[in-house]
Amino acid sequence: MDITKIQNLKNQAISSILEAKDKQELEELRIHFLGRKGEISRLIKELPKLEVEERKEIGNLLNDAKAAIEEAIQNQSSVISHQSSVMDKDWLDVTAPGEKLDQGHLHPLTRAIREIAAVFERIGFIRVSYPEVEWEWYAFDGLNMPKTHPARDDYESFFVEGKPSSKYGRLVITPHTSSGQLREMQRTKPPIRIINIARCGRPNWDATHTPTFHQFEGLVIDERINITHLKGIFDYFAINFFGPKRKIRLRPFHFQFTEPSFEVDINCPLCLGKGCKLCKSGWHELGGSGMVHPQVLNNGGIDPKKYSGFAFGWGVERTYAMKSGLNLDDIRPLYEPDLRFINQF
Ligand code: FA5
Repeated sequence: MDITKIQNLKNQAISSILEAKDKQELEELRIHFLGRKGEISRLIKELPKLEVEERKEIGNLLNDAKAAIEEAIQNQSSVISHQSSVMDKDWLDVTAPGEKLDQGHLHPLTRAIREIAAVFERIGFIRVSYPEVEWEWYAFDGLNMPKTHPARDDYESFFVEGKPSSKYGRLVITPHTSSGQLREMQRTKPPIRIINIARCGRPNWDATHTPTFHQFEGLVIDERINITHLKGIFDYFAINFFGPKRKIRLRPFHFQFTEPSFEVDINCPLCLGKGCKLCKSGWHELGGSGMVHPQVLNNGGIDPKKYSGFAFGWGVERTYAMKSGLNLDDIRPLYEPDLRFINQF
């Protein structure tokens, strides 16, 4: 039996089926090709006459052809049913709403990052990003953090297995965006005005801490930069990101890489600073800040006698959670795949 003949028969059957205009025509084609006395059945009846090997091969081909023709008939039958249901109506309501398709949207954290970046870009900050896996020198030593600093313990930072560098030490998942300060100082010369937004990692898990989180780090270095510039930028950010009723306050603190150093708080979105169930004190911490330590400027290759600067590093999740009206008292769902939560934003 001729193989090409079987294939031609199948192709011919499918193209006729695709042209069938109504169910009756389709039924006639089914009888013609698949009926008891149809083309395919006739060939099947001839199988016993063939040698065993040929019978197997031709048998398979005929079965495939039969299945393909049956499928084509089924598809064309649905097409014809759909067309006739549309044609049955003698009017069409062009004002009826169309079928609503599900639309995706940006993840709230992507939106937060873009909003934060936009607020700083409006006043001339340039957005940069630096490695998510960093050398110990950039994350700690270059920032004045001694070998004995608790942040360098295994239970405070995620160190990466591998051969350490003799110059830069071990590899670590960037524990804070402050490593970008040194990278930026090495990359360029003052004036510097950047915002570095990046993913960080620390082994934490509670309502305000996740193992993966994001920080945004501002760094401004120029001649005669002082604390009033730092405070002015924070006030600008508070009004533009949180709204006119929100206020920033600085609390004296200690970081190895800034002097003086401050923790930065925002007044509570619910009570605006009076004190309530959410905040107790009226304030929430956003992150750290301070005037860049002269030794860090030196480490970055910048002359501290000529230049000064300020830096700040705040959590993106924490900052976003403090937006008015969000009432986000737990940031962990931002990293969980619960669409009921994510789709609220
Ligand atoms: C720092 O990381 C300093 N590098 C900040 C800094 C930068 C100080 C520049 C001075 C100058 P701290 O460890 O406090 O500081 O973290 C800053 C903020 O990051 C926290 O207030 C919080 O908002 C956020 N953060 C820290 N750890 C986590 C975590 N595990 N999950 C979510 N957010 C976190």
